[in-house]
Amino acid sequence: MNSLLRKILQLNSYSATNRKLQVIAHRGASGYAPENTMISFRKALDLKADYIELDIQMTKDGEIVVIHDATVDRTTNGTGNVRDFTYEELRKLDAGQWFHKKFSGQQIPTFQEVITEFHGKVGFLIEIKNANLYPSISERLAAELKKNSLDHPNHNEIIVQSFDFEFLEEFNKLAPTIPLGLLVKYRVQGISNVQLKEWSKLVQYINPNKALVTRRLVKKIHDYHMQVMPYTARDMKAVKALKHAKVDGIITDFPDYI
Ligand code: G3P
Ligand code: CA
Repeated sequence: MNSLLRKILQLNSYSATNRKLQVIAHRGASGYAPENTMISFRKALDLKADYIELDIQMTKDGEIVVIHDATVDRTTNGTGNVRDFTYEELRKLDAGQWFHKKFSGQQIPTFQEVITEFHGKVGFLIEIKNANLYPSISERLAAELKKNSLDHPNHNEIIVQSFDFEFLEEFNKLAPTIPLGLLVKYRVQGISNVQLKEWSKLVQYINPNKALVTRRLVKKIHDYHMQVMPYTARDMKAVKALKHAKVDGIITDFPDYI
């Protein structure tokens, strides 16, 4: 990333550490409604979330859709890989009934639908899943953000995150003005200063598994001018511990817990 641009993005995000704790609704308010559906995102807004977190995949005909898994098996009444469905076929699946029959009729949203309804009302924390399955997803995502004027975001409007650092590097070449977050899985050895230094050259957010979070780690991440938004708090005990560690945001299924 161009070093001046990186500095600006980091200063923007770092000066935000004095702001209130950010509430990020994980797959929407997924403790209360079927994950990654419009009803779950609407519920997140009702519960005053600052961001909605959503996972994207791509259909056979190149539509970016919002669904967590690479297959439709767990969260719809269908079976098969998302990438083997056309958008029209995918649309026929029920994405709400598995959670509760009262949510029957929910469909897998397109990314564009989510932007159209929520842009300007809440921040987007967009996670790219399985980038290796979708060779053109970087280009498609960059184009869709540009089309919606989200490629020059206002403060806190959008963050693109992934567990895949190489994907983030590639995406950054296409959309250098979009703030990035690196998701970090639990690892016994924790996160080293060498890693933080390296990652801070590209990303503005480190979003670790909550089991990695200590007050010391949060301070180190801040020292490298990045913010921390751990995942996923599902009870008050976890929320309390993360607040104590002075994180910048909490990714949670229950936005009202925060
Ligand atoms: O936003 C972090 C979190 O969503 C990462 O894990 O599996 O829920 O997508 P997962
Ligand atoms: Ca996710």
